[in-house]
Amino acid sequence: MQKTTLGNSGVQVSRLALGCMLMGTQTSEEDSVEMLHRYVDGAGGSFLDTADCYAWWTSPTARGGESEELLGRWFARTGRRDEIFLATKGSAQPVDVPGLWADAPSRGGEPDWERARREFAGASRSALTDALEGSLRRLGTDYIDLYYVHVDDLDTPLEETLETLTGFVASGKVRHLGWSNVRTWRLESIRQLCQRYGWPAPVAVQQQHSYLRRKAGSESVSIVGSEQLDYLRRHDLSLVAYSPILKGVYDVPAKRAAHHVMTEYAGPDADARFAAVEKLAADLGATPNQVVLAWLLRQDLVTLIGPRTLDQFDAAVPALALTLTDAQVAFLDAAGA
Ligand SMILES: NC(=O)c1ccc[n+]([C@@H]2O[C@H](COP(=O)([O-])OP(=O)(O)OC[C@H]3O[C@@H](n4cnc5c(N)ncnc54)[C@H](OP(=O)(O)O)[C@@H]3O)[C@@H](O)[C@H]2O)c1
Repeated sequence: MQKTTLGNSGVQVSRLALGCMLMGTQTSEEDSVEMLHRYVDGAGGSFLDTADCYAWWTSPTARGGESEELLGRWFARTGRRDEIFLATKGSAQPVDVPGLWADAPSRGGEPDWERARREFAGASRSALTDALEGSLRRLGTDYIDLYYVHVDDLDTPLEETLETLTGFVASGKVRHLGWSNVRTWRLESIRQLCQRYGWPAPVAVQQQHSYLRRKAGSESVSIVGSEQLDYLRRHDLSLVAYSPILKGVYDVPAKRAAHHVMTEYAGPDADARFAAVEKLAADLGATPNQVVLAWLLRQDLVTLIGPRTLDQFDAAVPALALTLTDAQVAFLDAAGA
């Protein structure tokens, strides 16, 4: 597995990270364990990603923490904790998960996402401290390699969050820091405060990033845009690109019409990019998802996949061996409307 350096940390991490979001809920224990084995022993990867809230939304009985618990059982059974670069996150766990499922039938069986986005744990000292202790307990470990603030909390003074995170690093419970779903101006505030007070600064930013470009006027906090990409490069912050295949829309045209992930992308630019990736995939005898992953793997970032099934995992791995030529990359880059 090829590696890349995480920000200015000097630490080498796998370029293809495995998202464990659905492990223990939508992905069975047996398949999750097999996927971990195929990723670590088959593909040679060592970068796992989870969060304390994974995956409360997958069913009315899920509560969040199932993914970390599964990884904790795997570490305990295999003794492989120290082989893994383990990332988890805090702040996004909703305050009242059962309450979010009340009246779900009136929302087509969906939890109350709007309330979940309003009423979440946040990044205060007490919320983050509880979140980290819960993660360590579920994972059965005494350290996290990379700890992210999962969703930015604009209501807590940034100084309080950063002082809390500084304490995590000083205690040895956390080795490196990251932020996710965050605006560029906040990253600059964080950078300046860390510089002023000598606090450890984030080395990674986890944002949604794929081959499609977000629509003009999109105000998504989660999707990295060209200006934020430029900021990350300038300040030596690694981008960890989540939803790299946008839930599989490249391979499954039917999903493009129906999936909520397309809300921020659908339009002529996306159509032109779908056409380009389909053409190159046909020329190469690869799938469109694989071409998108290969395009991301050529860049200086970490590509964070989230297969739900073993077949989906197996379909992603060949992208590691699919080396695009400069001309092919230029062809993909040039596509658009
Ligand atoms: N920081 C954040 O806020 C945040 C947000 C989201 C994710 N993440 C992290 O990033 C990881 C990856 O994100 P993601 O799960 O959104 O990434 P993704 O790889 O873009 O999407 C995964 C989904 O794509 C579909 N899929 C995978 N392979 C496919 C194939 N060969 N053909 C068709 N469909 C396929 C599956 O959908 P179906 O289930 O419909 O089959 C699967 O659930 C997560 O595990 C998590 O660790 C972080």
